[in-house]
Amino acid sequence: MAKDSANQQKSADRAASLLREIDPSRVPRHVAIIMDGNGRWANGRGLPRIEGHRAGIEAVRRAVEAARDLNIEYLTLYAFSMENWKRPKTEIRALFQLLRRYLKEEQNRILKENIRFRAIGRLSDLPPDVQRLLRQLIEQSEGNTGRNLTLALSYGGRTEIADACSRLLSEALASGRTGSFTPEEIASHMYAPELPDPDLLIRTSGEFRVSNFLLWQIAYTEVAILDIFWPEFGKEDFYEAVLDYQQRDRRYGGVQGQLPGRKKTHGGMVS
Ligand code: FPP
Repeated sequence: MAKDSANQQKSADRAASLLREIDPSRVPRHVAIIMDGNGRWANGRGLPRIEGHRAGIEAVRRAVEAARDLNIEYLTLYAFSMENWKRPKTEIRALFQLLRRYLKEEQNRILKENIRFRAIGRLSDLPPDVQRLLRQLIEQSEGNTGRNLTLALSYGGRTEIADACSRLLSEALASGRTGSFTPEEIASHMYAPELPDPDLLIRTSGEFRVSNFLLWQIAYTEVAILDIFWPEFGKEDFYEAVLDYQQRDRRYGGVQGQLPGRKKTHGGMVS
């Protein structure tokens, strides 16, 4: 117990000192997170996987708070992928139970903090009561003008692109239009086209994969791979990823600027 509180103090001190180093005028506008490693975190402690997801919810709360501390406008979390439907039914049921609880517990805070809440994915796949809870919070927060929180649920990047193309095609067939589509037209048919592309993608659990997340939108996104499991994610990890991001030179395929020397790197940089 004493060790726990000493560790908490240590991570609070580290968070405070990292926060002072961050340039508030150059924080990423949109951060997307692949929250990975709940199961392995639980396994390593001899706990059932669901305990990892339960601890993962606390990490979600820390991530939302860190985004608030940094004034990050958009935070998008990969909460349930289309591939996650392949998991055992008991785990899926438990995940949705946690989601229900999270939505009910966070509703007041989301509204009080002027956060606009969204959900992206094939939402019609979700249990009807979860769809209702999501719809309620989406509608209640629709007029909010502060930060933005988006949960990706029953989400797949390839499916999102296919859905966008299908909608474009139906519109074209209905209007009799012919010819090709532009990238801008495809972008404007994504699930939440008003969101800017992510500037920074964070993934936990040390895996160098994008796992079908926001495939269209991450074309020029900086990537940070953290060597910790999601339940271990603290505000200080968020701050450190942002600090690392601020040392990068984003060229979008151009040649201007120089690559700065990189210290402890978690991610790969793509020009
Ligand atoms: C990955 O861990 C995590 C998920 C399947 C989704 C993340 C879910 C949560 C954090 C809880 C619910 C979230 C909200 C917003 C209510 P994993 O199970 O894939 O871990 P493993 O790769 O170690 O098996």
